[in-house]
Amino acid sequence: MKSIIVTSALPYANGEIHLGHIASTYLPADIFVRYCRLNSYNTIFTCATDDFGTPILIKAEKEHKSPKDYVAHWYNQDKEDFERLGISFDIFDQTSSKENIEFVRYVFNRLYNNNYIYEKDVIQFYCEYDKKFLPDRYVIGTCPYCGANDQYSDICEQCSRIPEQILDPKCAICGNTPVNRVSKHYFFKLSAFSSRLKEWLNTNKNLQSDIKNYVLRWIEDGLKDWDITRDISWGVPIPLNEEQVLYGWFDNHLCYISATLKYLNNKVDDPKLFWNNSIIYHFIGKDIIYHHYLFLPAIRMGIEEEYKLPDFIPTRGHLMLAKQKISKSRNWYISLKDFLDVYPPDYLRFYIASIVSYSQEDLNFDWDEFASKINNELIANIGNFINRALTFASKKFNGIVPEYTDLDSLDRAIIDEINKIGDEVGSLIFSNEIDKGLRRILSFSNTLNQYFQAKEPWSDQLKAKNCIYISINAVRSLAVLLSPYIPFSSSNICKQLNIDEIDRWNPSELLIRPNHKLGVIKPLFKKIENDEIEKQKKRLG
Ligand code: 2FM
Ligand code: ZN
Repeated sequence: MKSIIVTSALPYANGEIHLGHIASTYLPADIFVRYCRLNSYNTIFTCATDDFGTPILIKAEKEHKSPKDYVAHWYNQDKEDFERLGISFDIFDQTSSKENIEFVRYVFNRLYNNNYIYEKDVIQFYCEYDKKFLPDRYVIGTCPYCGANDQYSDICEQCSRIPEQILDPKCAICGNTPVNRVSKHYFFKLSAFSSRLKEWLNTNKNLQSDIKNYVLRWIEDGLKDWDITRDISWGVPIPLNEEQVLYGWFDNHLCYISATLKYLNNKVDDPKLFWNNSIIYHFIGKDIIYHHYLFLPAIRMGIEEEYKLPDFIPTRGHLMLAKQKISKSRNWYISLKDFLDVYPPDYLRFYIASIVSYSQEDLNFDWDEFASKINNELIANIGNFINRALTFASKKFNGIVPEYTDLDSLDRAIIDEINKIGDEVGSLIFSNEIDKGLRRILSFSNTLNQYFQAKEPWSDQLKAKNCIYISINAVRSLAVLLSPYIPFSSSNICKQLNIDEIDRWNPSELLIRPNHKLGVIKPLFKKIENDEIEKQKKRLG
């Protein structure tokens, strides 16, 4: 049986996980992983916090914390938030782990020895007052393109462009004007990989074709070598000059490998071989396409020792909030923690899964749509059928699944539906069409409601027997189908059915036999009221 390694983009350890992260990356990856596990693929789900880099160092300094303590705080917070949402990582590591630092330095040395890293003098801002170089966010000035003041030298938040040369530069720490100083930097020869990258992109048939096409155009336009050095103290020290550290985007994606191998250590004989024999998925949001389609594969190629490239890079668009771009600096976002303080995790999972397409299209979080999907789809469709079937069985049959007798055409038609549903939903999830899979489950549940209605089990005790036997089995089918999507509710359904937790993708089997005793039946979900949604709109955005 093939093994599967799934990674999801590493969140920066400098702020709350918000719904944007969940929609573009973590939830689609988790649903996929949960499905793979139920199909007995040996599946490993890897993530870590992205700890290094200038923005994190600056934030830590502002809070008068050591960067190590600062990232430890966010690591713990993120871990807790992900667990509350049921994101089921096998390992959640840190890019600042000793294993990653060691691996990154090893990779640097290999690339250097293979002549893919060279040195070059560059002019850097230097603050004579603070006695330090000022990379990226350490310099604030005026954007040369749009004239916005108070912009960082590495990105203008007004026009989203990367200034070549910021105007009127000032040190972000003390406000003095920096001077120019020469510093020796290491560059990664990305340009040397143009033809290998082109060949890889052209032969990998699993990548989303629209993305592949414009990445190929970037290669045609010419790739620039990457400055992988930062003159700061927080990062992976460069083996050839320990005064300097590596750029965060040199080390972070290598943690996909180092964390997975760390997890596999002691579990398999040869973790590296396991990596190379697995199908590899990197789930990402569309803002980091360049890094994952060019930089990451080029580094892996340059090691010249096999660390398999990704087979799939599922890439999704951004989540907007009330049709506006999420922005942490403008405080326009909903944090996962705040959301989960009010609503059950499965409500968020259900809603996001229902709108997340397998494309770069942006999505929109809308409070009214959220309430309507929960009330009209999750509760009035799925919850209604489950509760109706279970309550009927509990009241009219004392909670004991009845024997079935001659099946009529309605019974046979619904058993046909049950027989088909597993493969249909399964292949949608496996091909990353998460939203379509959920839509198919909803149409299945709709058919079940119609069946129950048409059979009128309340009118005739004999007709009721087949209907309840089949419906209780269909409830189990729903528990299986929903378990990747809303795992907490799925396990609640299992409790009410009085069966073990779902551990296999077998929604098409009728496994609950006559005479099986059901558990205690309770409504699964609570409706979202209008006034309550209005309150959240005001409170959370
Ligand atoms: O853009 C980001 O949020 C980065 N922290 C993602 C890193 S993914 C990686 F490690 F490849
Ligand atoms: Zn200064």
